[in-house]
Amino acid sequence: MPFKEGELVIFADRRVQFLQRLIPGERLNTYWGYIEHDEVLGLEPGSVVKTSEGKKLYVFYPTLSNYIIKMPRKSGIIYPKDLGIIMMWADVRPGDRVLLGGVGSGALLLAVLRQVGPAGKVVAYDVRQDMLECAIENIKACFGDLPSHLELRLGDIYEPTGESGFDRVLLDVPEPWRAVKTVDNALIPGGILCSYLPSIIQVRTFATVLQKSGIFGLIETVEVMLRSWHIEGRAVRPQHRMVGHTGFLTFARKLSGQE
Ligand SMILES: C[S@@+](CC[C@H](N)C(=O)[O-])C[C@H]1O[C@@H](n2cnc3c(N)ncnc32)[C@H](O)[C@@H]1O
Repeated sequence: MPFKEGELVIFADRRVQFLQRLIPGERLNTYWGYIEHDEVLGLEPGSVVKTSEGKKLYVFYPTLSNYIIKMPRKSGIIYPKDLGIIMMWADVRPGDRVLLGGVGSGALLLAVLRQVGPAGKVVAYDVRQDMLECAIENIKACFGDLPSHLELRLGDIYEPTGESGFDRVLLDVPEPWRAVKTVDNALIPGGILCSYLPSIIQVRTFATVLQKSGIFGLIETVEVMLRSWHIEGRAVRPQHRMVGHTGFLTFARKLSGQE
């Protein structure tokens, strides 16, 4: 489908990416000169366009990963490399009911909304109204509108929320051990909890509280190291630079309480 006015696109080569919404009369300015949006309207995704100084860039619709990396932020975000593992290890499925604590800029929320789809339900909490507003803007810019299967709540996930009947609970808050009671009430037996934490000291506190609670089994912490490779002629080696650390992911399954 050729690009139309108002659509999000990404101009990219292997090293750079520019996210733009196509507006007649506007232009993308780069280190290598500019590209008029009018030149791109009507082109097919995967076309090559040249900046005013001759630099070639591909133009595509952005992947969700492209969008998340480039969207405006008010908080740290969970990066796509971790989001991919969260979706698989926490087994977030189409139609799932997911409770999310710590909306922030909405990166995790975007991934979950897309994964559960309209047959699912996502209830997402943040203690800060400005964070909810930032996430709302990012969701609208990505999906066109706020999906009907999303309920955003201004509230504290550490306090009793009254939420119940969730298949999955995903947390990106600084002290998830304070949310254990909320999680216990919210998750169905066999449901999966995932918490993202930047520091291993936080992970130890959290894992210890989970272990002592007797409510959870299969408690596991992982980190994701993603290393790109440079492959050009005989130069076949890992890239010199990589993201060394983002966060740790702790997963656990809610037990039924029956022996
Ligand atoms: C690192 S940000 C979350 C980023 C988000 N997961 C993303 O991928 O964009 C942490 C968020 O947790 C929120 N937060 C902190 N304590 C909270 C609590 N007790 N209940 C709900 N939200 C909380 C903060 O306001 C902040 O927006």
